[in-house]
Amino acid sequence: MGRPVDIAATTARRRALLQRIGRGTVLIPAAHERNIEQDYVQDNDFRQNNTFYYFTELETQDAWLLLTARGDTVETVLFLPPRMPAQERWTGLRLGADSVGVRLSGIGTVLPIDSLDGRLRRVRFAALRGMPVYVPLDPSTREESRISDVAFAGGDVRNLLPIVDSMRAVKDADEIARLRRAVNISVAGHIAAMRAARPGMYEYELEAALEDGFRRNGADRLGYPSIVGSGPNSTTLHYDVNRRRTENGDLVVIDAAAEWGQYTADVTRTFPINGRFTARQKAIYDLVLGAQQAAFDSVRPGITMGQLDAIARRYMREHSAALCGEKTCDDREYFNHGLGHPIGMDVHDVGFGRPLEPGMVITLEPGIYLQSEKLGVRIEDDVLVTARGGEWLSDGAPRTTDAIERLMRGSR
Ligand code: GLY
Ligand code: MN
Ligand code: MN
Repeated sequence: MGRPVDIAATTARRRALLQRIGRGTVLIPAAHERNIEQDYVQDNDFRQNNTFYYFTELETQDAWLLLTARGDTVETVLFLPPRMPAQERWTGLRLGADSVGVRLSGIGTVLPIDSLDGRLRRVRFAALRGMPVYVPLDPSTREESRISDVAFAGGDVRNLLPIVDSMRAVKDADEIARLRRAVNISVAGHIAAMRAARPGMYEYELEAALEDGFRRNGADRLGYPSIVGSGPNSTTLHYDVNRRRTENGDLVVIDAAAEWGQYTADVTRTFPINGRFTARQKAIYDLVLGAQQAAFDSVRPGITMGQLDAIARRYMREHSAALCGEKTCDDREYFNHGLGHPIGMDVHDVGFGRPLEPGMVITLEPGIYLQSEKLGVRIEDDVLVTARGGEWLSDGAPRTTDAIERLMRGSR
């Protein structure tokens, strides 16, 4: 039936939302179960809709949340589908519209879903008289007949998502705790993969060790398909086929992370399959590492991702010497992606472009990819923005060439 809800956090989020809109009705549907025959299933049939999760932390499918703000009065109603004992024998217990539902959700009014349409007729009536209705209008919910533009045609219907996205950009304590947990699980997986590495292994064997580390440490699912690129594949940014056999002397780029409690980390490590960096690999690695450190040292409230990107590139430019030939290594031919992005319920989370604030969580992920040498290096860490600067969240996974070599030596 899901994890305990942080009732204080979800209540505070709903209150903050209603304060933001002042007057209006908010209607948020939960996700549906995925269709095992028709949808591409990852490792289970259900992942909650992010907006619904943000305001409830419930993993119940096909529920609806209705919030109403009218002056000083606010109303919160959770609508739940009926429990079906025969179905629950196949898929497990569900939350029902009863006292258990009230206690676990922390929402005082929990009603059966049959009563939703009656309530919506009142919402529609109020909407026609100028009471705004906020609904999440994204591809996954636009199809819902209950919230399609048609359902409230003629009323003041607004998209809820820009407001929710701006709230989600700065993480509260509960969200930060979830991200820390997702990061720690991810770190354990990266360490397991480094320990397992031997020349001649297939990329998928490294992937197995990595994801074994995630699952053993309690991951709910992958944050995104694991990228395990060796040798030439280390230069393909989102290579996730993971079928090549590694060769002695290869570098391996692993960009992979676990999701826990709906929040995902995003971590990349690059290591030599045989446990020893060559001088050339180390030189490129240390340049990427220095660029990442320079960006980290500049993390503070008020700065933008764009400014941090420029700082990382400047460091690379000034320290490239002849490492990348005639051009410097920061050239878009070699460092051909952005420095980072916010993480949260999505791996590329909302809030990109916004000046940093305490409570935002971002990645710093410079890279240099030299295709002609089959040599790619990316180092990606997750950083919490604090009032004074940044806090590394993922530095439990070895970051320096020395620390990586030491770890890999210890497992031989
Ligand atoms: N793992 C995707 C990214 O680093 O942005
Ligand atoms: Mn990333
Ligand atoms: Mn990544």
